[in-house]
Amino acid sequence: MKVSRRQFLSVTGAALAIPTIIPISALGRADRPAPSGRITLGAVGCGGMGKGNTGDFLDLKDCQVVAACDVDKQHLATVVGKVNLRYKNTDCKGYRDYRELMARGDIDAVMLATPDHWHALAAVEAAGQKKDIYGEKPLARTIGEQQAIVRAVHANGRIWQTGSWQRSQAIFHKAAEIVRNGMIGKVTRVEVGLPDGQGGKMVPEDTVASTPPAELDYDTWLGPSKMMPYIKGRIHGNWRWNYNTGGGQLLDWVGHHCDIAHWGCDFDNTGPLEIEGKGVFPPADTVWNTCTKYRIELQYPGDIKMTIAGGHPDIRSGTKWIGTNGWVWVDRGAFEASNEEWRDYRRLPENLRKVKLPISNNHHRNFLDSVKSRQPTITPVEAAHHSAIPGHLGLISMLAGRKLKWDAQTEQIVGDADASKLLSRPYRAPWQIAGYAG
Ligand SMILES: NC(=O)c1ccc[n+]([C@@H]2O[C@H](COP(=O)([O-])OP(=O)(O)OC[C@H]3O[C@@H](n4cnc5c(N)ncnc54)[C@H](O)[C@@H]3O)[C@@H](O)[C@H]2O)c1
Repeated sequence: MKVSRRQFLSVTGAALAIPTIIPISALGRADRPAPSGRITLGAVGCGGMGKGNTGDFLDLKDCQVVAACDVDKQHLATVVGKVNLRYKNTDCKGYRDYRELMARGDIDAVMLATPDHWHALAAVEAAGQKKDIYGEKPLARTIGEQQAIVRAVHANGRIWQTGSWQRSQAIFHKAAEIVRNGMIGKVTRVEVGLPDGQGGKMVPEDTVASTPPAELDYDTWLGPSKMMPYIKGRIHGNWRWNYNTGGGQLLDWVGHHCDIAHWGCDFDNTGPLEIEGKGVFPPADTVWNTCTKYRIELQYPGDIKMTIAGGHPDIRSGTKWIGTNGWVWVDRGAFEASNEEWRDYRRLPENLRKVKLPISNNHHRNFLDSVKSRQPTITPVEAAHHSAIPGHLGLISMLAGRKLKWDAQTEQIVGDADASKLLSRPYRAPWQIAGYAG
């Protein structure tokens, strides 16, 4: 990044922190926490999901939330207050510059829950500062940014957990294991149903440009995205409905149900060969301009066809695998299958588990366990990368207006220079990531 820490601090007025707790990393090797003791954590992004994740980490006794960061003073104060109330002290420090938080030597891990347009910058910085990372889905806003995150996590030997928490629910684990154990025969087709529309009602007075509120550092909130006037209806929570900052329902949900689809098919390290997407888009200058209805047809290795759709009633919400000997469908709190007996299992009985997927009963617990053991989490960075790729490519196909061919090994669109330009997006100066074309 070109912005110096000093420059950033002068804009944001970030607090300087005084370390208060010995981090677990101090008890082990320099980059590897000892297997016992508390993991010190910094929370970056204190809006809806960040608050929830922080609460989940506060519930785990071997974790100590020591810092929080947000560019909105009110969101920051809420989370810092929540942490200090829980610990009955005033030790949690607040920051407006995540780089200051991540530079602290007494922090082992970070939780990242910024809007998607900030994922890559924050994650690459965290990995470079040798923090283990609990990062939200989708991995990033573009495939190019995702590649930068994967590289940084690997190069720095970091543990990564994605917020695709459905993997830590027994019902999704059971469904994926049934498929992985061949109990529906050879998989021929997968259907992934995601929401359509734009998740909520637009309040008319929130659609006009106005002065950003005093508590929000709007320029930093926009970060690498194109400069656009402040409009309340596309900031907190609603950034996902504008392509300048988010990816609509498709990219909001692909890291959940497509993640599960990939888990069942053993696709955590591969991707589609062909992708054709069609969607309905509002005018590009609308405040909420993400596509409201979409359908993506994908061809995967092994002659498996997948459909990812929102707003198409023939594709039911959730994940459905169809095989030569049966089918399984799973959604949050719902499970159906060609074999009625499977419904009664909480998890697949041990004698049927020839292929065993890792088991987690608590997604945040699973992260802390991996931080200590240095074994992969249940949703490592490669899984997040590959589960979001079909969504990104589907959107690129819709925007290009044609079918794409994808080389999952080299991670390139084959023979389509124009569509390939959409694998990254220009970054607004001075933000940049080494090795990212944006
Ligand atoms: N796993 C899940 O089930 C789930 C559910 C909802 C959201 N999410 C993901 O969580 C992330 C956050 O979503 P949300 O709904 O909480 O959004 P949000 O708008 O409610 O919160 C984002 C917060 O990040 C802050 N922020 C923005 N730029 C920042 C920066 N540079 N440094 C520090 N803070 C910054 C914002 O001010 C805001 O407080 C997204 O990636 C989203 O996809 C995951």
